[in-house]
Amino acid sequence: MVAIPTLVATIAGTFCSSFPGLCTQPGGCDLSGISMPLSPDQQTALGLPTTPLAAIGLGFGVQNYTCSADNVFVSTGAVGEVFDISCLASSNSSLLSTIHDDLFSFWYSSETGNVTVQQLIETLPNTVVSNAILGQHYFIDNGAGGISPVWDSRAIPQFQGVADAVFVGNVVANTPDANPTENVSWLHLVKVSGNLADEVYRAFTAGGIPPSTCVSGTTQDISVKYVSQYWFFGGSLGLGSPC
Ligand SMILES: *[C@@H]1O[C@H](CO)[C@@H](O)[C@H](O)[C@H]1NC(C)=O
Ligand SMILES: *[C@@H]1O[C@H](CO)[C@@H](O)[C@H](O)[C@H]1NC(C)=O
Ligand SMILES: *[C@@H]1O[C@H](CO)[C@@H](O)[C@H](O)[C@H]1NC(C)=O
Ligand SMILES: *[C@@H]1O[C@H](CO)[C@@H](O)[C@H](O)[C@H]1NC(C)=O
Repeated sequence: MVAIPTLVATIAGTFCSSFPGLCTQPGGCDLSGISMPLSPDQQTALGLPTTPLAAIGLGFGVQNYTCSADNVFVSTGAVGEVFDISCLASSNSSLLSTIHDDLFSFWYSSETGNVTVQQLIETLPNTVVSNAILGQHYFIDNGAGGISPVWDSRAIPQFQGVADAVFVGNVVANTPDANPTENVSWLHLVKVSGNLADEVYRAFTAGGIPPSTCVSGTTQDISVKYVSQYWFFGGSLGLGSPC
């Protein structure tokens, strides 16, 4: 068996060579010519952003579920690492239609099978991709009996020590993926707190759907691998600007 640190380093190296440009991009690329390629139906369902595009992220990780009393899985949150694909997209916007599926294939490959997203989150910035990371995605207790999704950029080089470089969001609209039995739905979130962004869209998803049934009290909690693009709009901190 290969030691986990070695495996993670290998995965990071493979990852960077599989997606040319992702790990060496300079940051601060011009996104003025790019808009989210949503269909008219998706625009209607999600609503259009009201603030300028700041950055495009590509996240991978797991969606977590627990078995409810109704014998169906319900979401208990997610954890993910988000890469900055703004410069890739500004140099070649056509890859936006495939990069999430490409990363999904990689994330589901046997090579990554023994590695958790937490191990990659801890290791990737120290290996080869620190400038390519936009932040981490996770959930926090919202103090009202529920959980809220967070995108946290406080650890990236651009925002060291900037306490409000986070986006805590609230889902205001959603629409199913074209392949809803395999891919999690697309979302429009607006800011609850933080100044990283005013709006975030989860779009172009791959994976993350749990089995359709479970047995309450018997089926264990599960984590389902997923990949998604995250589009960040607005924000007062200059996300996506040169450091
Ligand atoms: C994953 O773990 C299994 C069981 O320990 C081992 O046989 C396999 O070689 C590991 N895969 C990699 C890529 O290290
Ligand atoms: C999701 O599950 C993973 C284990 O697969 C765990 O490490 C992580 O803390 C969980 N996160 C949330 C928000 O439930
Ligand atoms: C742009 O990306 C697409 C999809 O990945 C790829 O097929 C094409 O070769 C790329 N174009 C250039 C100029 O790199
Ligand atoms: C998700 O959607 C894409 C694009 O429609 C599709 O190719 C893919 O098979 C779906 N499922 C997964 C797990 O990516």
